[in-house]
Amino acid sequence: MVTRRRLLVGALSTTGAGLITGAGLLPVLQSGTARAADETGPVAVPPPFTVRMPQLPVLTPYSTHGGVDAYRVTVKEVSREILPGVRTKVLTYDGHFPGPVLRARSGRQVTVRHRNTLHMPIAVHLHGAEVSPENDGSPMDTVAPGTTRTYTYPNQQPNATLWFHDHAHHMEAEHVYRGLSGTYVLTDDTERALPLPSGQYEMPIALRDARFDENGQLVYRMDDFRGRTTLLANGRPSPYVEVAARKYRFRLLNTSNLRFLKLRLADGGQMVQIGSDGGLLERPFTTDTIPLSPAERADVVIDFSRYPVGTKIVLQNMPGPGTTEPGNVLRFDVVRTAPDPSRIPDVLRTLPTVDALPRPAVERKIVLSMDEDGRTDARGFMDGLQWDPDRIDQTVTFGTSETWTVTNANQRIPHNFHMHLVQFRVLERNGLPAAPAEAGLKDTVQLFPGETVKLHATFNSHRGTYVYHCHLLDHSAMGMMANFRVR
Ligand code: C2O
Ligand code: CU
Repeated sequence: MVTRRRLLVGALSTTGAGLITGAGLLPVLQSGTARAADETGPVAVPPPFTVRMPQLPVLTPYSTHGGVDAYRVTVKEVSREILPGVRTKVLTYDGHFPGPVLRARSGRQVTVRHRNTLHMPIAVHLHGAEVSPENDGSPMDTVAPGTTRTYTYPNQQPNATLWFHDHAHHMEAEHVYRGLSGTYVLTDDTERALPLPSGQYEMPIALRDARFDENGQLVYRMDDFRGRTTLLANGRPSPYVEVAARKYRFRLLNTSNLRFLKLRLADGGQMVQIGSDGGLLERPFTTDTIPLSPAERADVVIDFSRYPVGTKIVLQNMPGPGTTEPGNVLRFDVVRTAPDPSRIPDVLRTLPTVDALPRPAVERKIVLSMDEDGRTDARGFMDGLQWDPDRIDQTVTFGTSETWTVTNANQRIPHNFHMHLVQFRVLERNGLPAAPAEAGLKDTVQLFPGETVKLHATFNSHRGTYVYHCHLLDHSAMGMMANFRVR
């Protein structure tokens, strides 16, 4: 078995970066800061709503010939302004923090050639996508420093809000934390035919938490869930965003390593959720709370026409680690009126009902756990084992369906569960039918301590070996990951 320490030493010794510390800091990222603390005193996080939320940049293909959208991306370390007036070192796709948006269409292939200019290996995983194993950015299938790798995405699946992020084993948590994540919006004709808010009224928003040091630099410590108390929306701390008094569609993505978000409007106002991880729901539903564990997505429409121009309305996060007060995610400032021809149809797509899904050939049980005795070098487990890249934990027959009943055996620590390759359906949560937010296609589900979810997946797109893991990336880096092989 390959141990975690051997993987670490192996990975880092090829980069000359030296040994990782117990705290998980990569020395190579610590060198130099844009601004010294003693020049003007320590950097503070600004009061909320003092910076504007930027829109995420959209990548442009360098070629669209032959039915393929071809992209080139340089993975590089740069300095970007996160806190006002401070340059923070971040890891980026093409210099963007947070990562850019790639807009793709079902049935049209995308290729992305990544050039790795970092001093450590990377792997780019397209989360939620049906891709062949060699294009999955799997943890040990890395792109060495100074080399390039082209990933091919067939996009043979329906509309979905996917995302891409680093997956190089035991570095993924720190790499994603330092910026290596981007949004991948896959659209199709079903979605485009709907009169939903679009163009400037459709906005992807990447949410996360972060911890800054006194120089305004990102601090990464493994499992630091209490320390990451600054919330970022599209890479800025508690920003404001100007909106018109009409409907907007927000594609919300939680890129945090550990933080479970529970979003609500400060006035308790209603939001309409229209989609989740695997694209549109069958039917929209109205809610005042959007829970998002790390890697989950919610596609949400908010109608600002109910607010007079001049209203400022805060999107809050319910109290969580590090705070007893609701957190300020961002503020919507209603600054003008605008015509609104958009509409939310009663039916957004059709999905088989859960009783009409193919009969499972196999019913598996999976147990997630990690040390919760307070030890500093806590380990994560799937069915009592830490991840071994050479061990196949589950063997699935191509073309069949299965149910996976997944339990969080911990007493205090929440987890979630993500499978590569498939979009699954949630048959049950704690013995009850799935709530509306989980009734569509999903690739990641929350698991609070003691919870059990029963999932249904059909393995009919690709053969090969893929991982499943807790998407609290600090946990998967601790070993809470396993392999399944489809053959
Ligand atoms: Cu979002 Cu294995 O990944
Ligand atoms: Cu976990």
